[in-house]
Amino acid sequence: MYDIHMHVVPGVDDGSWDLQMSRWMLDVAGLQGVERVLATPHSSAFDGGDHENTKEQFEKLKEMAPIPVYLGCEVLCEQERMATITERLEKGIYPTMNGTQYVLTEFFPWVKEEEALICARWLLNKGWIPIIAHVERYRELFDGDAVEKLKALGCCFQINVYSIFDEVSEEIKLNAHKLMNYGWVDFLGSDAHRLNHRPPSVGKGLEYMRSHWAPEYLHQISTENAAVLLNMQ
Ligand SMILES: [Fe+2]
Repeated sequence: MYDIHMHVVPGVDDGSWDLQMSRWMLDVAGLQGVERVLATPHSSAFDGGDHENTKEQFEKLKEMAPIPVYLGCEVLCEQERMATITERLEKGIYPTMNGTQYVLTEFFPWVKEEEALICARWLLNKGWIPIIAHVERYRELFDGDAVEKLKALGCCFQINVYSIFDEVSEEIKLNAHKLMNYGWVDFLGSDAHRLNHRPPSVGKGLEYMRSHWAPEYLHQISTENAAVLLNMQ
């Protein structure tokens, strides 16, 4: 698997605290079958002049990483900040996914259909392709047909592997299963923050997925699609 969502850049957000912790996270990921990682700090780590420091921290991580790591950013989108957000993407302050036109897009947990669609349209109109991070967690989007509308607009979907197997909330788990059953998942991620908070251990989840969905589908969402982000195709 290529993990496209991990808070493994040390000391820049609520993920890894330092280089040692990042090393442990990548070691665990590697042992669980993760071959490449897109490191995706929260966009706040690039705000207020912090983007140079965050990029430097990523370079330090890259030097000691036991598996290849690439830089991205989990961009928190809200309706009234979209002009600033797209400007920061254009200026390269917020990194896209390994320099491609794909943007890992996050909303506040309570986001409603209207706002999610407005944000997605803003990004698409500016030429970016939103990858909606952990779609299964946005409860309001599963009440009507918002998820279908986002897909029809051209958004890609990422789900967290633990949502399928380890998630405590039955509702979130059900949403993740629905997305898998509809064939709407494009990417998998761990959204790992630390070894004891959403850990990078995707092994059991992947094993469960292998026994419930077609191998071709799993191959596509675990590696094939991510290879496009990593410029491997
Ligand atoms: Fe995240």
